[in-house]
Amino acid sequence: MVAQRVKPLVRILAEGSDDTKGLKRTLGPWSLTAMGIGAIIGTGIFVLTGVAAATRAGPALTISFIVAGIVSALAALCYAEVSSKIPISGSAYTYAYATLGEFMAWVIGWDLILEYALGAATVSIGWAGYFGNFLTAAFHVTLANTWTHNHWDPTPGIVNIPAAAIILIITALLVKGTRESGAVNAVIVAVKITIVLFFIAVGIGHVNPANYSLPAGPATGLGGYFPFGWEGMLGGAAFIFFAYIGFDAVSTTAEECKNPRRDLPIGILGSLAICTILYIAVVAVMTGMVPFNLLNVASPVAFAALHVGLPAWVALIISLGAIAGLTTVLLVLMFGQSRIIYAMSRDGLIPRSFAAIHPTLRTPVFSTIFFGIFIAIIAAFTPIGVVGSLTNMGTLAAFILVSIAVPILRKQHPEISGGFNVPFGNYLVPVAAAVTALGLMYFLRYGNPTIYGIPIAWFGFVVWLLLGLVFYYLYGRAHSTVGRAALDGLAPHDPRLN
Ligand code: ALA
Repeated sequence: MVAQRVKPLVRILAEGSDDTKGLKRTLGPWSLTAMGIGAIIGTGIFVLTGVAAATRAGPALTISFIVAGIVSALAALCYAEVSSKIPISGSAYTYAYATLGEFMAWVIGWDLILEYALGAATVSIGWAGYFGNFLTAAFHVTLANTWTHNHWDPTPGIVNIPAAAIILIITALLVKGTRESGAVNAVIVAVKITIVLFFIAVGIGHVNPANYSLPAGPATGLGGYFPFGWEGMLGGAAFIFFAYIGFDAVSTTAEECKNPRRDLPIGILGSLAICTILYIAVVAVMTGMVPFNLLNVASPVAFAALHVGLPAWVALIISLGAIAGLTTVLLVLMFGQSRIIYAMSRDGLIPRSFAAIHPTLRTPVFSTIFFGIFIAIIAAFTPIGVVGSLTNMGTLAAFILVSIAVPILRKQHPEISGGFNVPFGNYLVPVAAAVTALGLMYFLRYGNPTIYGIPIAWFGFVVWLLLGLVFYYLYGRAHSTVGRAALDGLAPHDPRLN
């Protein structure tokens, strides 16, 4: 039975501890927290908040952020526990392999490829929007729609070249190595936090409480704080959930951490806590500065500053900060992506060449370049709403599986002690994490375009999973190292760790 192909934990842990052949261990608690913040604050807050406020939640977008923050925190607790117990590259994929078996591991790994690839594509499209605004505001240069928009955008073009270009630049940085990209990341994260605090500081004096309760109308729905009802607020939460994605990417770096059991939980929970507080403040200020129905623009944070009459240089600084901030999100998402691929390939589920580490650079050069090109093509030709909602589906599915892994891991491997433990027993937090993530998946349908009457986020997700099944049965199942060991009579047993 495929589902019984569980990868023994001792073997998983041994693979990751071979420091001579593997990845370099350079990351400590600060760089992990910075990496988390680098991944989290990005297109979600700088770009998607505008459309979410205008078309889904209204001023209640602040509540949406609290709801999505709670769902993410529950999942983050589960990630913190599982990653500190199985501190190996591959994140949720590896946890599933150790607990739920190869088939579920494949499903989750395939799903994570979707999350990171489409997440990076989404962010690069947001980046391209801010980049265009910046060129216009600073140098009066306007790039032609033909080369900055895809065919399906409201202002159609042919190909989004800036989005594809930034993906390829990040790919080059990652090929060079973690240490360099980690240093760049730390500086830009500091800039990003400063810009967010700057916006809160200059904006808070311009909050007009009337904006929290506009009268009803064609553009303002029912009016009041919940202009599109509680369903709109939850639809907004499902949509801006994208803003929280990224803390899970911290767990993909386990084999590059100096002390993963202690530092991964710090990086995951610390970065999420900081970002949640910043987000709630930014959104409360932004929806207080501008009537929510005006926020449906490509750069809502900069727009809010201009709307209340702040000088143009304030908006310019915010745009620059956003460009820098989105760049770090790309770094972490693409870094995480290459590490997931590395782990899956090491297990034989995808061709071995993807796990090859370059002898001098010590990075997975081939897989980084391969997926860099793949993501650049998606970024060049796909609308941001479509890739964003699909990313959310993929991520929420991963959250559910990681939550399920917590009680299973505790039951099957009571000998692993130390590291981080989710509070309140075996089930409360994991079940709450899985159920709330499922709820957000459901509410993603709100405002999502449909194919054959099915929300595109649901449809695309199912198609991707079916493709994954085909690939698994045509390739992965036969090449799996765990499966081969079983065929050779070396059935993977499950020795306890001492
Ligand atoms: N949370 C990240 C962003 O909003 C992915 O860009």
